[in-house]
Amino acid sequence: MKIETVSTKPIDGQKPGTSGLRKKTRVFMEPGYLENFIQATFDAIGGAEGKTLVVGGDGRYFNAPAIQAILKMAAANGAAHVIVGQNGILSTPAASHLIRALKADGGIILSASHNPGGIDADFGVKFNGANGGPAPEKLTAEIFANTQTIGSYKTLDAQDVDLSTCATTQMGHMKVTVEDPVARYQALMEDLFDFDAIRALFASGFTMRFDAMHAVTGPYATAILQDALGAAPGTVANGIPSEDFGKGHPDPNPIWAKPLMDLMLSEDAPDLGAASDGDGDRNMIVGRGLYVTPSDSLAVLAANAHLAPAYKNGLAGVARSMPTSAASDRVAAKLGIEAFETPTGWKFFGNLLDAGRVTLCGEESAGTGSNHVREKDGLWAVLLWLNILAVRRQSVAEIVKDHWATYGRDYYSRYDYEAVATDKANALIDGLRARLDDLPGQHFAGLTVTAADEFSYQDPVDGSVSTGQGLRLYFEGGARAVFRLSGTGTEGATVRLYLEQYSGQSGSTEKDTQDALRQVRDAALAVSDMKSLIGRTDPDVIT
Ligand code: G6P
Ligand code: ZN
Repeated sequence: MKIETVSTKPIDGQKPGTSGLRKKTRVFMEPGYLENFIQATFDAIGGAEGKTLVVGGDGRYFNAPAIQAILKMAAANGAAHVIVGQNGILSTPAASHLIRALKADGGIILSASHNPGGIDADFGVKFNGANGGPAPEKLTAEIFANTQTIGSYKTLDAQDVDLSTCATTQMGHMKVTVEDPVARYQALMEDLFDFDAIRALFASGFTMRFDAMHAVTGPYATAILQDALGAAPGTVANGIPSEDFGKGHPDPNPIWAKPLMDLMLSEDAPDLGAASDGDGDRNMIVGRGLYVTPSDSLAVLAANAHLAPAYKNGLAGVARSMPTSAASDRVAAKLGIEAFETPTGWKFFGNLLDAGRVTLCGEESAGTGSNHVREKDGLWAVLLWLNILAVRRQSVAEIVKDHWATYGRDYYSRYDYEAVATDKANALIDGLRARLDDLPGQHFAGLTVTAADEFSYQDPVDGSVSTGQGLRLYFEGGARAVFRLSGTGTEGATVRLYLEQYSGQSGSTEKDTQDALRQVRDAALAVSDMKSLIGRTDPDVIT
């Protein structure tokens, strides 16, 4: 088999965002586009020579051809061994676990997460390091720099590998192992949680609907929830992964998982509703008649994690991304453990987890996880909820309301303004940034600003600093508004406005969320002058 050196030219725009490189699928399919990025990645990690890598994806359109191209490039670049999920499938958390379990040098995950899939939708590639977590900013910056100077890439003139059969074969000098994507992940979940207690819960008549949204968690959820834990057949809905996610938008939130929400708000609601996204790292939790916000879910899990075997000795600390509500901070304070506020992006939790400073992490964007892997993990969150429900034998609503009674409630909502012209979005952020220092003491829609800043983060472990991570406005009475530009969109800019209002320890926890947030929303719209700057105030999506 012959190694080919293919000459190429730098391609604009290959800068990884919040979570790897995401573009339209057709862009990734252009000649050299994927190859340039992969070669730039190999070069940034010091070459693939002698390395062991994990490769897999969420099964979306172009997943398998991309894997074949990566295998040939890995072989040509001298990699020793690549482990691939059968049929090219690996959920993001399962890939993270596999990298760690095999002590691999890293992995390449093909996914655009919760973005739609298909030839006219989105595709993505990201590199995870030896700790199983997303590449830190230093490495993604190096990858990007390499994409700007690249002159050639290496590939092997070889046959495609049969991804449907679990076996180890050779591609040139490189070993390729195709393995079952579920088995090792399932074994890890069995180690962490009390499967007997959860089995007893289901045996007692507990009912559940898990919406896999035609995405990667289908096979994992079927094997674990139905086959191992005894949930009734049909518990897992939309469980067969498809290349375009059934033409849906595999994002587990009340908007995109509307059929699940409708069921959970109906008379026929099961005891628990849950969903996960395209690549299996996000989760949504719904009780009968009650949606649990991701920020609340993190707080409830932190307060109750000791009920599951893996966390019975307590937590080292809890971390949340800056835009996530302060609910988990309150739990950490009560437990007497450290609480961290990091920039958006799971990669910022990596050092804290590696250093043993935190055990649980979470984000408002439906991500929750722990030190068991270095990614957020949708099914893990569902299993931790199930373990807690199996021990407490209360409903989801009872557990959440009991939590609010103890800590007060952080009313929370995120407004997304999608496909905003980039210059207008920048004008909004730049304009607000320029006025931050003048805002304290000013009143907007009847609320007084107490503090305003642009979030920057110094990693407590390696000292690295990340600036420009979102504008924070604090108001009298426990309200906060955050403005940020999304780093995961593929069209124009997405402005995110995160709204939060603390009820106080003794305030009402029974209000409608949007009612409770009306004043801070009005203040945020006024202070940013959104109407005149981007021409609208009604968001495309409210979660
Ligand atoms: C991905 C990342 C998360 C992040 C989310 C939203 O899911 O893994 O860490 O919170 O995207 O990011 P964005 O930049 O679009 O707000
Ligand atoms: Zn995802």
